[in-house]
Amino acid sequence: MLLRRSLPILLIAAASFVLAACGSEGNSVTGQSAAIESGSQLFAARCAGCHTLSVVGAEGSAAKVSSAERTNGPNFNTRKECYENVVYAIQNGGFSGAIMPANIVVGKESEQVAAFLAKYAGSEAMGSTTKCAPKSANAGG
Ligand code: HEC
Repeated sequence: MLLRRSLPILLIAAASFVLAACGSEGNSVTGQSAAIESGSQLFAARCAGCHTLSVVGAEGSAAKVSSAERTNGPNFNTRKECYENVVYAIQNGGFSGAIMPANIVVGKESEQVAAFLAKYAGSEAMGSTTKCAPKSANAGG
């Protein structure tokens, strides 16, 4: 009974989700787990304004130092990130806490964004080491 009543609502929600997904052009993340795909959509919606990552069509990082703005964040085409550090950055507002707003996504959403970024960030990094040096709360930024 409950299911029957909420079904139309679910359908509407699903339809608007598809429409919203159409808006984020250039997201070529497909065939991944649901968590990673939704992480890619969250990234495109919430993080793309300040970070570059071509797999989702994000171009928020500065292309040139001369046109850089203070809010331009690191380019994730060339910078590798590990899961723990993305979670840290989301919770603390980047590594410095100075510019990037903290908790743009929380809970499950932050886990999905972190899983997505850990997989896709640094795909164009030169000789990237995949070693992770986790930031921790008392590392002093
Ligand atoms: C208002 C602009 C802005 C938004 C929105 C933003 N960031 Fe940032 N981010 C920055 C800036 C600037 C830095 C670099 C300075 C710092 O680390 O404090 C940064 C740093 C980071 C870092 C650390 C990267 C490194 O290696 O130094 C990660 C990871 C990160 N952001 C992830 C995200 C994620 C995930 C989102 C979306 C949930 C997001 N950012 C949204 C501006 C932003």
